[in-house]
Amino acid sequence: MIVEFLSLFCLGLCLGHEDEKKNEKLPKPSLIALPSSMVERSSNVTLKCQSRIQNVTFILEKLQDSGYKREQRSAGHHVEFLLTDLKLKDAGTYFCSYKTMASHECSEKSEHLQLMVTGSVRKPSLSVNVEAEMTPVCSITL
Ligand SMILES: *[C@@H]1O[C@H](CO)[C@@H](O)[C@H](O)[C@H]1NC(C)=O
Ligand SMILES: *[C@@H]1O[C@H](CO)[C@@H](O)[C@H](O)[C@H]1NC(C)=O
Repeated sequence: MIVEFLSLFCLGLCLGHEDEKKNEKLPKPSLIALPSSMVERSSNVTLKCQSRIQNVTFILEKLQDSGYKREQRSAGHHVEFLLTDLKLKDAGTYFCSYKTMASHECSEKSEHLQLMVTGSVRKPSLSVNVEAEMTPVCSITL
């Protein structure tokens, strides 16, 4: 199994290299949430994107919102994207990548990070659903 996996992996890599000899993919960065990926509404969270290469522009994107894009430069190995006053709609799947300042070459995307926003103050009312369910479907024809 492992050998099979490795040979497939190598095949993929080799083909990849065949396709883009000059354009070698930059190693993908890692994305973590601090203090945690489960945060309370109205609080702040830091999404830290880290690469092995320094001096790059980091890009944070959201899977559910193709228009969402934040960019931040760093001369070091990481940047911290601060998300403040979190709303429920800020929950979702985030990933980051980076591009080098010199060549503007883009890296692979990081693993997905699930951000959960908890602590809704008002509980959703169930009364509407319950009423709808209890109304007999045939009441009008009867
Ligand atoms: C969130 O960040 C903002 C801006 O940095 C700060 O003013 C606020 O106090 C922070 N809120 C919490 C709950 O840490
Ligand atoms: C980062 O890139 C800038 C612009 O290309 C360059 O001036 C600077 O020396 C670089 N810094 C490091 C630490 O490589």
